[in-house]
Amino acid sequence: MKKAVIVGGSNGIGLAICNNLIAKGYFLEICDRSIPEDGKLDTNSFHFNYCDLSVFDESVFIPLAEDLDVDLLMITAGIGRVADFQAHHLVEIDKIITVDTISTIKLIHIFYSRILSKKTFYAGVMGSISGWMSTPAAAVYAAAKAGIVRFIESVNIELELAGTDNRILDVSPASFKGSKFYGGKNDLTITSPLADQIIEHLFARDTRFIPEYEETFKAVLERYHDDPHEYGLHSYQYKKDSGRIDNSKKVKIGYLSGTFDLFHVGHLNLLRRAKEQCDYLIVGVHESGKWKGKETFIPLEERKAIVGACKYVDKVVDSCREDSDAWDLWHYDKLFVGSDYKGTERFVRYEEYFKDKGVEIVYFPYTQGTSSTQIRKTVMMKTNENKE
Ligand code: CTP
Repeated sequence: MKKAVIVGGSNGIGLAICNNLIAKGYFLEICDRSIPEDGKLDTNSFHFNYCDLSVFDESVFIPLAEDLDVDLLMITAGIGRVADFQAHHLVEIDKIITVDTISTIKLIHIFYSRILSKKTFYAGVMGSISGWMSTPAAAVYAAAKAGIVRFIESVNIELELAGTDNRILDVSPASFKGSKFYGGKNDLTITSPLADQIIEHLFARDTRFIPEYEETFKAVLERYHDDPHEYGLHSYQYKKDSGRIDNSKKVKIGYLSGTFDLFHVGHLNLLRRAKEQCDYLIVGVHESGKWKGKETFIPLEERKAIVGACKYVDKVVDSCREDSDAWDLWHYDKLFVGSDYKGTERFVRYEEYFKDKGVEIVYFPYTQGTSSTQIRKTVMMKTNENKE
């Protein structure tokens, strides 16, 4: 049975492409963060693989690339934002470039021996018209899409020189409706005609498809090339006038602090749960356990290095005297802590302090059976037993 891999197939144009391919008799390997909405696709026609391109996991894709029944790869997953550059948080820049450019190129690399072979293989990526010209008020998105568009253009030459007829299709539309991209809803009646056109170009093994090129975008691109500066000014004003620029803060920053002496699974559980609830996790490490009347075994710099190496942690800092002082520095949205702190004088005070600051305090279940104190005690006990 013919199989197709659709990365980002649960929503928007990816979902419409899935529908089209199912009608053509394909079985789909859908790779996405969420499962297609109920009723949108025939459940016997696809298999769902969880993937999040912002944290690339090649183990999801390698078996699919090795499956010789797969003869089609379409990457439609992408993120972007219409906002002034200064409204982007560093972590957002990272995410956009990682998903739209780096992970997409890695994915192509995983499937590249299939594309490079003489056997027919269909490959395509959703680029964007933003990759073909300047896009003020979406500068990071434009950079990411320009990266992928130039990559595809370059690698298609290598494919041609290698003697295969397979190509990578760059689908570069302007914004379109019927997807969740700009906060809309999945509407297959809108996206299906575009999906049909994309599939046609994919099967023709074309290199580039700009929807509505002759009608609209040929002239738009010409205007841009004639006078990029004038075009850019006009493009910014148009977005502004149509109310599409959204400079609100999008990234959820999380913060937690601890001593992290003798790193244990209770620490790990806390960090994992915290990262599940924010985009960027900052961890403050206390200089010592003195404030709790406890001794620490591991020096501060080593504890910081250990916590920083944990994949859930984005940034490690020296903790402040109070987590409320750390808020002045990091303006975090969520403060995490183990449930053993609920009702303590410190956290009652924080709840009061953060009440009108839009900061949520999240208490996670304390992991029973372990703590730095417990480990210290056990080690001491064993050492004393051995001495006796
Ligand atoms: N924590 C947890 N489960 C554990 C131990 C700690 O959820 N079994 C959480 C704490 O609630 C705190 C964070 O981990 O939010 C960091 O605490 P830290 O003081 O480093 O951990 P402890 O192991 O509790 O240290 P100690 O025994 O020295 O007090």
